[in-house]
Amino acid sequence: MNNKQPLERRIIIAFTLMTLLVSGTFSLGIVAIVHFIEEHLVSQELDRQLHVVVHEDLRNGRSPRLDPETHFYASNLDEFAIPKQFDRKELGFAEVVDGDEAFYVYIQEINGVRYALVQEQHEFEQREQALFNVVLAGFLLSIIGAWGLGRLMARKIMQPVSRLAQQVRHRDQLLPLAPPLALEYANDEIGHLAAAFDSTLSKLRNSLEREKLFTSDVSHELRTPLMIIASSCELLAEAHLAEKEVAHLQRIKRASEEMHDLVQTFLILARSKPEEAFLGGQATLQSIADAQVELWQTMFTDKQIEFQCAVAETPKETLYNATFLRTVFSNLLRNALHYTEHGKVKLTLYTDHFTVEDTGIGIPENFQESIFEPFVRGHNARGEGLGLGLSLVRRICTHQGWTIEVSTHSPHGSCFSVFLKPKKQ
Ligand SMILES: Nc1ncnc2c1ncn2[C@@H]1O[C@H](COP(=O)(O)OP(=O)(O)OP(=O)(O)O)[C@@H](O)[C@H]1O
Ligand SMILES: [Mg+2]
Repeated sequence: MNNKQPLERRIIIAFTLMTLLVSGTFSLGIVAIVHFIEEHLVSQELDRQLHVVVHEDLRNGRSPRLDPETHFYASNLDEFAIPKQFDRKELGFAEVVDGDEAFYVYIQEINGVRYALVQEQHEFEQREQALFNVVLAGFLLSIIGAWGLGRLMARKIMQPVSRLAQQVRHRDQLLPLAPPLALEYANDEIGHLAAAFDSTLSKLRNSLEREKLFTSDVSHELRTPLMIIASSCELLAEAHLAEKEVAHLQRIKRASEEMHDLVQTFLILARSKPEEAFLGGQATLQSIADAQVELWQTMFTDKQIEFQCAVAETPKETLYNATFLRTVFSNLLRNALHYTEHGKVKLTLYTDHFTVEDTGIGIPENFQESIFEPFVRGHNARGEGLGLGLSLVRRICTHQGWTIEVSTHSPHGSCFSVFLKPKKQ
């Protein structure tokens, strides 16, 4: 049996095949037994009659005493010459069908003489045929019945299994207050399966809850020290500092702002409530891009890479979640900076999307889908990253209904495009 068939169909096929086998064996058995008994009884009866004719009637010079359906023939008597159609070489019993007629033929050799008794059996043959027709009809009906019953049983057996599968698949099943499944099922194999699902789902729920709490706790607790760093930077900026110290202070400030953005991003992603999507404030594509260009310009210049920002189409005045958009920009620009040695990086703005192109090492086409997976880094990965940047970017895009694509920038390098679907006008 093909194991790729659905379970319900497999049950029906098994049911039908079993009936086919059992009912087929019975039907063939009936036919064989009828034939066997017919041959055995009739040949016994004909043998007895032949014996009476040869040893009593002929010996006493009487004509054979037989019923009208039975005829006697002998090879040594002209008036009883054996007709050609009944003259067989083999001795014993046989059935001969001649057109519409059917006969039992019994041939015996006694003292070198061949004797034959021929009995018309047309009527019996008709009854026999009727019996075989009934057996055949019974066989076919039992197959159809088994198929129908199999369908009914399979549906009944599979119904709780399908219901359980549907319940397990339902997304509400991962909610903390989802009711246990096992209570709805009998204490049988399916009930045990439901109980196993309950325990696995509850473990899954707990670990999801723990992960969410961890992220939100960490994000929440980091906000206070970050605020302290930011305010200390502001206080220090007012003091008289040497040029080198001012540069260091700027770096600390920038890093703390980035961390603040990240903390905010993680917090919103962990809570995943739509009403909290505006938690980090809102801004237009143009304003975020301007701030990012200012932030990254010096780093590109330090690495002697040309950094360009072009406006191909005036961006819409749509407001986007500022924290998320900043995180997407900073990850794409950081990657462009890391993975480009010479040439240029170009940020282009369109009505509601933007692209970041670089002339760096590029990403092989067969690797372009996997770079969005967490902890995936290329062979030419730089710095101490973990391979989480693009996975975070994709999570943000999914959360906001945006899309991100990557393509190869000819002759070498890569091009990331982010399409922003407006969330709020
Ligand atoms: N602009 C780019 N040019 C070439 N390869 C890139 C570019 N951006 C990403 N990649 C490849 O994709 C991989 C995944 O990028 P991702 O930003 O997720 O991780 P990372 O930069 O290695 O580390 P992290 O961002 O966690 O610091 C990188 O390791 C790199 O191989
Ligand atoms: Mg990165």
